[in-house]
Amino acid sequence: MNIAIMGAMPEEIAPLLERVGEYKLTEFAGNKYYEATYAGHNLVIAYSKIGKVFSTLTATTMLQHFGAELLLFSGVAGAINSKLKIGNLIAATKLCQHDLDITAFGHPHGFVPEGSVFIEADKALVAKAMLVAKDMDLELMEGTIATGDQFIADPVKNKWIGETFKADALEMEGASVACVCNAMNVPFFILRAISDAADMDASFSFDEFLESSAIESANFIIKMVESIE
Ligand code: ADE
Repeated sequence: MNIAIMGAMPEEIAPLLERVGEYKLTEFAGNKYYEATYAGHNLVIAYSKIGKVFSTLTATTMLQHFGAELLLFSGVAGAINSKLKIGNLIAATKLCQHDLDITAFGHPHGFVPEGSVFIEADKALVAKAMLVAKDMDLELMEGTIATGDQFIADPVKNKWIGETFKADALEMEGASVACVCNAMNVPFFILRAISDAADMDASFSFDEFLESSAIESANFIIKMVESIE
């Protein structure tokens, strides 16, 4: 199967590249794409750069240019749900854009006409992830991830996103990747390991735990690839 694995930052894909060994590098539209074979699959791996615009470009490229039939996202997130601690994993069951706002026209936060506030991740991939977690003896939370073009380092904003969308974690790319895959009918799975609590200490915590949490997420994604037939 042709599988795309994407992250947003170099740190999020570095552990994946280490694991797959040899790869072919292609530059396309300002990004580097790494093609490799692993566990009987053709992988295309890339980091998009941070945010919804760049992640949309990369996800679209992986599907349209590289022919990916399934997309897995590996990366880090800020916690909203207090059960999520540094290094814990969350699999998105649904995703929304917390900074999409045409409420002036009477629409709910995160909604645009002909769209929907939430996009659901592929249920079969989430179910597979739960089995993989059991196998690895790891806790994996299923939950809602809120995406926006802001690094959240403010308890008030964190609380607002949590209450408005009943979200468990937040980051800056998941919902845009979900939009692309949903529009193109490609199953997707968004995994995040917690790097910070999206509070006043978030930037320090992010810098401290980006690498270790990115490794947690990448290790899990590798096991997911191994479990896909
Ligand atoms: N990714 C990881 N931590 C984050 C935060 N606090 N805000 C937005 N994206 C993040």
